[in-house]
Amino acid sequence: MDMKTPTKLGVLSLALLAGTLTGCRGDRSDKPPRELLPGMDDQPRVNPQTSSEFFAEVDGRSMRKPVVGTVGFSRQPVVPEGDEPWMETARQDRRDLLEVDPRRYLGLVREEDPAEVWRFQTPALWIERIPGSVDRAMLERGQSRFNIYCSACHGFSGEGGEIKLVDGVEIETGGMVGRRFNTPPPSFHDPKYLPESDERTGRDGYLFYTAMYGVEHGAKMPGYAHALSADDGWAIVAYIRALQESRRGTLADVPEEQRRILDRQRGGNANAGTERGGDS
Ligand code: HEC
Repeated sequence: MDMKTPTKLGVLSLALLAGTLTGCRGDRSDKPPRELLPGMDDQPRVNPQTSSEFFAEVDGRSMRKPVVGTVGFSRQPVVPEGDEPWMETARQDRRDLLEVDPRRYLGLVREEDPAEVWRFQTPALWIERIPGSVDRAMLERGQSRFNIYCSACHGFSGEGGEIKLVDGVEIETGGMVGRRFNTPPPSFHDPKYLPESDERTGRDGYLFYTAMYGVEHGAKMPGYAHALSADDGWAIVAYIRALQESRRGTLADVPEEQRRILDRQRGGNANAGTERGGDS
C-alpha cells in the first residue's frame, strides 16, 4: 500500500470541513436561499398604500376599506373622520361596541351595574324619552323587529298572552308562546305602560331595558340584546308607542272629511270597527 492514500483522504476531509464552515458564516445575502421544498413560503402580495390591478374594477387600491358593520382593532384604533357613509357606520359601530352612553345603550340616566338595576325601583333611573328623533324608517324597523322578537309572546298587536272572550268565543289574544308562562306576558295597552301613567314602567327607558335585558335579567322574560342593536331596541320602543297610540284615538282625531265616511260605514254595518279591527 502506498503512503499517499491517507494524505489524500486528509486533504479531502480538510476541504470539506472548510467548505462547511464557510457556508455557516451567517453573512447576509441578497440572493434568495436555495430551498429544497419551498411549499407555500413565497407568495405574491401587494404593498400597502399602493395601487393594484387586482381590485381594478372596484377602486384599483391594494388595500380594502373596512367592511360595513365591522370594527377594526389594532394597537392604535383608527377612528375615521369624514362624512362618507361608511365612516359614520364605523364610528357608530365603535360607539356601540364601547357602549359609552348609558342613556342610549341602557335606557338609564346613569351608568349602573346591570345586576343592580332590578333592585332599583326608583323612577329616576329610567330615561323618559327615546334619545334622538323618530321617523318612519325607524318605525318600520321597529315593526319588523317587534314582529320577529316580541310578537311570539306579546302578540302582533301587543295585547299580551291572555285568553279573552270575544263574542262568547275564547280566543288567544296575543302570542302563541306567551300563554306558557306562569305570568302571561302583559298587554302593552295596559295603562301602566303608557308614557304619562307610570314613572317607571311607562318610561321609554324601561321598555328599552326590558326589550334588551329581559325581565329580572331573563328570570321572567328573556332579553334580546344578543340579537338587537341599540337602534333596534329604540325602534321597538317607538313601535310599541305607535301600537298604543293606535288604540287611543278618538273620533275627534279623525279629519272632518274621513269622519263622515266613517259615520256612513258605521251606519251601514253595525259590526264594522270592532275592537279587534286593526289586528293582524
Ligand atoms: C318568550 C316570551 C317573550 C318574548 C319573546 C318577549 N317577552 Fe316580554 N314578557 C314576557 C313575559 C312572560 C313577561 C311577564 C314577566 C313577569 O312579570 O313575570 C313579559 C313582560 C314584558 C314587559 C313588562 C315588564 C314589566 O316589568 O312590567 C315588557 C315591557 C316586555 N315584556 C317587552 C318585551 C319586548 C319589547 C319584547 C321583544 C323584544 C318582548 N317583551 C319579548 C315574555 C316575552
